[in-house]
Amino acid sequence: MDIALRIVHVAFGIFWAGTVIFATFILLPRLKKLGPAIEQPTLKEIMRVTSPTMMICSVVVLGTGIAMVLRAQLPVNVFFSTGWGIAMFIAFIAIVIAVIVGFGILAPSGARMEKLGRGFEGRQPTTDEMEKMGRLTRRIATAERFIFVLIMIVVIIMPLSRFI
Ligand code: HEM
Repeated sequence: MDIALRIVHVAFGIFWAGTVIFATFILLPRLKKLGPAIEQPTLKEIMRVTSPTMMICSVVVLGTGIAMVLRAQLPVNVFFSTGWGIAMFIAFIAIVIAVIVGFGILAPSGARMEKLGRGFEGRQPTTDEMEKMGRLTRRIATAERFIFVLIMIVVIIMPLSRFI
């Protein structure tokens, strides 16, 4: 059971963190360079798949992480008095915030982008629609960068946890 939890946790964690790192350093900067006419429809299309996928990953990583911590059956003071416990506590807080930003900002912005895009299918978007699309694109990029920072904190402390 412990091995299965560990494999699922690490596999989903790698996939989630890898996707966020790829988006931050390669995908989003490249799309921005290509201009709004390509950036916005591509982002809309990608968000359709990445939003639910990343939400599943975050829940699985958090769930298996909590399950591993609970299965260790350690007293609560471990999370404030040992390096391992503090690392787990920080990871938990960081990932809970990432999940809140993902569910509360990223997913709804992707859904709004999708809805807005459907409104001008087959015609040129109006200036107002372009502005709204631009605002949503910037919001998604900012939320994504924030999640990136949180995930990087966890990616660094997680493998170090047993040595600190
Ligand atoms: C993006 C998020 C995360 C990633 C990429 C990640 C990745 C990893 C990796 C690579 C390991 C193996 C470390 C090793 O064996 O040295 C690990 C172990 C572990 N993770 Fe995470 N993790 C994440 C989030 C979390 C969260 C939020 C929790 C707790 C609430 C958690 C709890 C654990 C536990 C308990 C272990 C076992 C540690 C040990 O055996 O000492 N992880 N994680």
